[in-house]
Amino acid sequence: MTKLLYITARPHDEQASYSLAVGKVFKEAYIKAHPEDEVIHLDLYEADVPYIDNDVFSGWGKLASGTEFDQLTAEEKRKVGKLGALVEQFVEADKYVFVTPLWNLSFPPVLKAYIDAVSVVGKTFKYTEQGPVGLLGGRKVLHIQARGGIYSYGPSAEIEMGDRYLKAITKFYGVEDYQGIYIEGIALAPEKADAIKAEGIKQAQELAQTF
Ligand SMILES: Cc1cc2nc3c(=O)[nH]c(=O)nc-3n(C[C@H](O)[C@H](O)[C@H](O)COP(=O)(O)O)c2cc1C
Repeated sequence: MTKLLYITARPHDEQASYSLAVGKVFKEAYIKAHPEDEVIHLDLYEADVPYIDNDVFSGWGKLASGTEFDQLTAEEKRKVGKLGALVEQFVEADKYVFVTPLWNLSFPPVLKAYIDAVSVVGKTFKYTEQGPVGLLGGRKVLHIQARGGIYSYGPSAEIEMGDRYLKAITKFYGVEDYQGIYIEGIALAPEKADAIKAEGIKQAQELAQTF
């Protein structure tokens, strides 16, 4: 069964959020078009994604030197266990939809914590004599991103780091099929906000049929 992991990195408020509103339309249209697929929503603001901190380093260190998982401290167990569960869920998926707002030229920090959780050697990539090789070949990614300004062309195109980073890191995992829906320019032209959102919704409905 095909699994689509729908990952949102924006505090939940579909009324106020362009990215979540367009993402929701995509998800509902996708479910209608692919009733046999499994769609899992991972809300990163609810997921309690651990940072890689000293508990994680000490837990990993103990496991590497042969300590049983049960012998770790409670915090080491909680954090290392959660990171392990997140990467297992990630590699089991066939398709990924990331929904993010553009914040300070990138995505919200909880998504970086999640990327740190799933960038695991032997799971999403491996090292070879020729360098690192991605292990998620054949998967596909859609990024739905809302932006106050315009970044798909023009003077700001070079300084957008969220979409470009997500594309680079998923390519590092071996994903070649990367698509984007960008709801952009809302802050530049608030009078056009409804039209910009409607265009994003149209793209989401169309792409949901073929994604
Ligand atoms: C903390 C914060 C930082 C932002 N930084 C940028 C930015 O760097 N560039 C930009 O064009 N818009 C920026 N914006 C505007 C958002 O990208 C815009 O409001 C977008 O609609 C957010 O997505 P959402 O509607 O899903 O919340 C920022 C908004 C917030 C709240």
